[in-house]
Amino acid sequence: MKRYSDPSILPSAITPEYEYFDRRRLLAALAASAAMIIGSVGSGLAATLAPPRYTRNTKLSTREAPNSWEDVTTYNNFYEFGLDKSDPYERAQEFRSRPWTIEIAGEAELRGKFTLEDILKPHALEERIYRFRCVEAWSRIVPWLGFPLADLLARFKPTSKAKFVEFTTLLDPKQMPGQRSGVLDWPYREALRIDEAMHPLTLMVVGVYGKWLPNQSGAPLRLIVPWKYGFKGIKSIVKIRFTERQPATSWNMAAPDEYGFFANVNPAVDHPRWSQAKERRIGGNFLTSRIDTLPFNGYDDDVAALYRGMDLRRYY
Ligand code: MTE
Repeated sequence: MKRYSDPSILPSAITPEYEYFDRRRLLAALAASAAMIIGSVGSGLAATLAPPRYTRNTKLSTREAPNSWEDVTTYNNFYEFGLDKSDPYERAQEFRSRPWTIEIAGEAELRGKFTLEDILKPHALEERIYRFRCVEAWSRIVPWLGFPLADLLARFKPTSKAKFVEFTTLLDPKQMPGQRSGVLDWPYREALRIDEAMHPLTLMVVGVYGKWLPNQSGAPLRLIVPWKYGFKGIKSIVKIRFTERQPATSWNMAAPDEYGFFANVNPAVDHPRWSQAKERRIGGNFLTSRIDTLPFNGYDDDVAALYRGMDLRRYY
């Protein structure tokens, strides 16, 4: 696992993001013009920031063609903004994703509150084109921008008691109208076993299509675990906590027989109310839109070893 030579993080040494990226504006502009930029308008504050710099990780990318910007940013699940797929796009535009603070807590030597800039600064961003499979049996191909979660977690020196990592979304019913209703026990929570969190495919995502994340996609920071159902990909994270015991997670608390803790994509284990054997590829035509779901969403060669010896019908 890659380690940083200087793991110290100074919450005081804050450079505003615009200044930090300003120094690199020329380079960024060059990189952006050479990069694949799909779609025209960004949304919210993210659209006013200097564009992110990144390199493309072709090795860890699928060769399938990405969905359109519209497919990815106007059809979303983000219950904090409503239950309809169009609600996040329609209702999250004014959400304030900057400035942003992230708390690191629990079983780690370094803990505390850090600005988004502190969190992002040492990490080079990569574009990875991942398959994304929602538990509702739709899927799409998305060019995320991010960096390995493992690199972030290592900076805080998790102790030997850190067996799980818990993530929490912002709680702010004033900004998030969905939190004024009781569909879920807010704030949204998710968690991974530490080996899942440290897996090189697990991505801390800050952008998509060469841009900073639009609000509806989970600005400014969200998780993507490509071999798991989409609900593990918690959005707008404000807290990361290392724990010894398995944390409670939102969907598992809401409906434990429907949404397991592991939530690995598994065509052989149906949801109690629908089959998981096939998926509808968003944006496909009627001939191409129904496709077979693959074990671990097609990432089985990379991740099956994490679950060796486990009964995946029981640990769904
Ligand atoms: N994170 C938060 N905070 N709230 C949510 O409602 N929905 C999850 C996940 N992360 C959700 C969330 C679900 S069910 C899915 S499928 C993905 O986000 C959707 O991500 P997308 O809208 O970028 O496709």
